[in-house]
Amino acid sequence: MRDYRTKICNVLIIGSGGAGLRAAIAAHENGCEVMVIGKRIRNDAHTTLAAGGINAALGTVDPEDDWIQHFVDTYQEGYNIGDPKTVEILVKDAPNRVQELVDWGAPFARTSDGKLDQRYFGAHTYRRTCYAGDYTGRAILNTLVNKVEELQIPIIDMTYVSRLLVNTQNGQKQCFGAMAFDINSGDRTVFLSDSVVLAAGGHTRIWRRSSSRRDENTGDAMRLALNAGCRLSDMEMVQFHPTGMVHPESLAGTLVTEAVRGEGGRLTNSKGERYMEKYDPVRMELSTRDRVALANYNEIHEGRGTENNGVYLDISHVDKGIILEKLPRMYRQFMESQMLDISKHPMEVAPTAHYSMGGVMVDPETHSTGVIGLYAAGECTSGVHGANRLGGNSLAEILVFGKIAGDEAADFSTTLDLQTRNRAIIQEAIKELDELTTTGEQLARPLQRAVRNIMWNYCGVLRSGEGLNKGLEELMKVKEASADVDVRPSAEGFSDLALALDLLGSIDSAEATIRAAIERRESRGAHQRSDFIDTDNSENVNYVIEIVDGKQVVTRSNVPPLPEELEEPMQAYEDLSVDGRLLE
Ligand code: FUM
Repeated sequence: MRDYRTKICNVLIIGSGGAGLRAAIAAHENGCEVMVIGKRIRNDAHTTLAAGGINAALGTVDPEDDWIQHFVDTYQEGYNIGDPKTVEILVKDAPNRVQELVDWGAPFARTSDGKLDQRYFGAHTYRRTCYAGDYTGRAILNTLVNKVEELQIPIIDMTYVSRLLVNTQNGQKQCFGAMAFDINSGDRTVFLSDSVVLAAGGHTRIWRRSSSRRDENTGDAMRLALNAGCRLSDMEMVQFHPTGMVHPESLAGTLVTEAVRGEGGRLTNSKGERYMEKYDPVRMELSTRDRVALANYNEIHEGRGTENNGVYLDISHVDKGIILEKLPRMYRQFMESQMLDISKHPMEVAPTAHYSMGGVMVDPETHSTGVIGLYAAGECTSGVHGANRLGGNSLAEILVFGKIAGDEAADFSTTLDLQTRNRAIIQEAIKELDELTTTGEQLARPLQRAVRNIMWNYCGVLRSGEGLNKGLEELMKVKEASADVDVRPSAEGFSDLALALDLLGSIDSAEATIRAAIERRESRGAHQRSDFIDTDNSENVNYVIEIVDGKQVVTRSNVPPLPEELEEPMQAYEDLSVDGRLLE
């Protein structure tokens, strides 16, 4: 008798965050039967934590804005290693995706004359970030969940995907579904589908300080993709958000939205100096994230930090009514956790691992992965952000490319002549789960903590070749230990098994990040090396990781050229001074 159930659909979506849900809606609208699997409770994917806003060059507040300027800001501030076509698609389509959310009821803030309000975010030439207070991600996710429910698309939550099912024939890999288990009951399900969209998030929870919550963004998407035969790129490009909370310890790393600075927040050190004057005198606190994060890091490490190893972020000069209207989550967050009234006192903040700018390599126009039938979207992919992401571009990215991946996966399903199934591949996936569900000498949580310490100590805001190599060495020891993890289903369910798999995802994504970081012998955007402090034009490339003979291998890949029609505007916009246009 089989010890698993089978569920069949046309398009399977892995991940119930914004990218996954938008993909599901698209595939459904193309006439496909769709299922969404998520490892958290529905409505609580990481998208809910995205705070400050979503970018679209609508020009509602600054009519001079247009998609070309949005392109230039994104591409240039990504230090020219983003994929130009991907960026172009993002900035052209973002207004449509925002308008669609409005039509579906998303409660974005409005100006007094009823237009969508747009606020400043760092390094944007114009105000182009639409928002719903500082609950933008939650507002967007709620809107998408409502839409998905209206369309009666099933979301199968608390379900963990352990493996993508991939058949290889004549050297070509084709994905035909996924193996998964219910985190509560342990019941296993083989999901069979014509195509799959991977939208399972990033890997930034593997740093000690992270804006992700426990057990999310643990690199599972990267592990699934690598094992399926996909390539990852730009894994070394991990965004450290400049402002995470520093205490209490249980909340250290929690996001303090950039919208605080967008609404006028000022950074100062323990000497009372507004130090961004030294690092970016024109854009000040609204400089790019990599620059502000490095500035905060320097101030703290050079001894000008606060008692709790942070810097001060002060919004208390702004009217309390505006704070409550535009930053309600921040007001509550500090009041509830520190009894601190941010309308009266400064917050203490420090850099925190925030966003995976690298990930699965995808075709810009289809978001196909190179494995037939497998598409990817959202934070688990690479291409948009290069070496630095502009705040607000992630929410735009998940919607624009979620839709594209869903459309393409549906198109693939609709035109498929012959469905692939392979019993041996399914049996291998079952064997993997059987072998993981066993007693052992190690526990997943302490090993996970060891990974987080390694990444924080050796692969953080500032890196060096020596540190990275030491980090890799230590990580390999954790990898060895991870083969002997104790997994015991209990009254609490199968969370041990989920943790063991999270650990494997963390180790694989950590390894890819460190290996790429070792290879990139320069400093660029979020990748700062104390032993190679300059940006080197010969490093205008993407580092790519894939598995060859069971091992991660790194190669270099040239960045595609700028489309001809964008070369001239890029030049023209580069000549414009940003002075006076970034601060209200
Ligand atoms: O600071 C923030 O609100 C984060 C936004 C983002 O990462 O896009």
